Amino acid sequence: MSPPVRPEGERRNAKHRGMAASDVLPAPTWRELIERASAAYRPAGRYALHFARGKLRWDPVFRHLLAHGLIAPRSRVLDIGCGQGLLASLLEAADDHARRGRWPPGWAPPPAGVRLTGIELSERDVARARDALGDGADFVCGDMRSVAFPAADTVVILDVLHYVERREQDEVLARVRDALGAGGTLVLRVGDAASRRRFAASHWVDRVVFRLRGCRARPQAGRPVSDWIAHLVGLGFEVKDRPMSQGTPFANVLLVGTLAPPRSAS
Ligand SMILES: C[S@@+](CC[C@H](N)C(=O)[O-])C[C@H]1O[C@@H](n2cnc3c(N)ncnc32)[C@H](O)[C@@H]1O
Repeated sequence: MSPPVRPEGERRNAKHRGMAASDVLPAPTWRELIERASAAYRPAGRYALHFARGKLRWDPVFRHLLAHGLIAPRSRVLDIGCGQGLLASLLEAADDHARRGRWPPGWAPPPAGVRLTGIELSERDVARARDALGDGADFVCGDMRSVAFPAADTVVILDVLHYVERREQDEVLARVRDALGAGGTLVLRVGDAASRRRFAASHWVDRVVFRLRGCRARPQAGRPVSDWIAHLVGLGFEVKDRPMSQGTPFANVLLVGTLAPPRSAS
């Protein structure tokens, strides 16, 4: 069977928005994947369902993680500040789609057999995550500043570190490095404080959303991307950065940090 052809207009739009061509799934697969991942939230209520659908649709990071294979098959994933567990639900949906031969050509291998642990401060979000995923993933309700991190192959932290003070960010990142060990990967999204207006826009939206949701966390501290990278390099990571706020008014950047693999015994 020949691979589905992406309409020319869609390819042009992707280029226009600065996205890699592989970020655009041939219709209807990406929509189906979002639908499957969101539908898991029906038992968790209407808010959780619509929030999942909207976030997966509009936030470019989720599609990017899958298309570029940032979550390796059979890996142990730690998702810090996991919210209602969207990444876990998407990984489960991806596994299911791949088993049925529904995986976009040109994408990295599907993240089959992944085991995810999520850590999240909000009890309400943890309840939603558990309602949606059952025992498909493990969720710990607690503060990343004090909860022990399990050993992991990949740690994902999306839009979370700015909720704690700079010293606490450093402590969390040092513990992440220890939880990963040699060969591990950190997938970290941060706002770039050097892009002042866009960075301020994301903090403003954060404040409004958190007030509406009655959440405890508040934005505390941001840094320019160059500072984040320098800090990660100091911890031993090799870092690549990619813009990750296409289609939004924010200045988000995805930092992918890898630790050198273990030395083979000679
Ligand atoms: C902007 S949301 C991002 C959620 C998720 N990472 C995503 O991308 O869908 C930030 C999340 O971090 C959580 N959070 C903030 N401070 C935290 C802390 N100290 N420990 C654990 N989670 C925290 C918030 O409750 C919130 O769910």
